[in-house]
Amino acid sequence: MDSDLIQTENLCRFYKHGSEEIHAVNNVNLKIKNGEFLGIVGASGSGKSTILNLLAGLDSPTSGHITYNGKGLSSLSRTELAAYRADKVGMIFQSFNLIAHQTALQNVELALYFGDIPANQRKTIASEMLEKIGLGNRMDHKPGSLSGGEQQRVAIARALVKKPEILFADEPTGNLDQENSQLISELLAEQNKQGLTILLATHDMNMANKFTHRIVRMNYGKMENAHFSINGRNE
Ligand SMILES: Nc1ncnc2c1ncn2[C@@H]1O[C@H](COP(=O)(O)OP(=O)(O)OP(=O)(O)O)[C@@H](O)[C@H]1O
Ligand SMILES: [Mg+2]
Repeated sequence: MDSDLIQTENLCRFYKHGSEEIHAVNNVNLKIKNGEFLGIVGASGSGKSTILNLLAGLDSPTSGHITYNGKGLSSLSRTELAAYRADKVGMIFQSFNLIAHQTALQNVELALYFGDIPANQRKTIASEMLEKIGLGNRMDHKPGSLSGGEQQRVAIARALVKKPEILFADEPTGNLDQENSQLISELLAEQNKQGLTILLATHDMNMANKFTHRIVRMNYGKMENAHFSINGRNE
């Protein structure tokens, strides 16, 4: 866990809103080590989702830089950036972003569509992932006939099934009961042990303390000093 996988330099994302300028992410310098499980906490509106979207290559900074494995995201061509999002990054959105007219299974399978996995294996891999998160009996349901927590678990399966290098998880347990919350947290910890780097935005301090190595706090777009969580390793 020595090399930096992600590094930001004076990262800013400002929004214009009427005559006001909102400093959603303001001059953030962050390093995420390869294999790290990093928690990001902070009040609602403090900039957590904004920074996740920037790092995932889904949004562009107003100023500043992001490097992934030493390469600047802003220097990537459109194709390279699309490949970064498709192959390296897994994203669990706060709002799920599932495709409404497709079943749970199809939603997860779709994540494998752009990778190297042969078409005849996609369904098996996707259904195994859904079984793993306890949705084996809901595979043919469309999002509209799934509960909020079930939709969230489909979104988690979709993010993990393609085996990304880094997972950006935006409140992945926000809609889950305690039992499922525990199940998902353990699943993330297990994936992290197998090498997946994770950036987890959460309001759940218990989860952050228990499962991450390190926690940073956002406050009005600024990132405050990190502290080690209970689970933090002294490496
Ligand atoms: N498209 C936009 N236009 C203008 N302001 C925006 C836009 N998107 C986000 N913001 C503002 O940027 C700030 C940061 O938003 P963000 O979604 O990153 O917060 P958050 O920390 O994820 O909050 P939560 O915990 O509620 O999910 C908020 O004040 C929000 O209102
Ligand atoms: Mg958010």
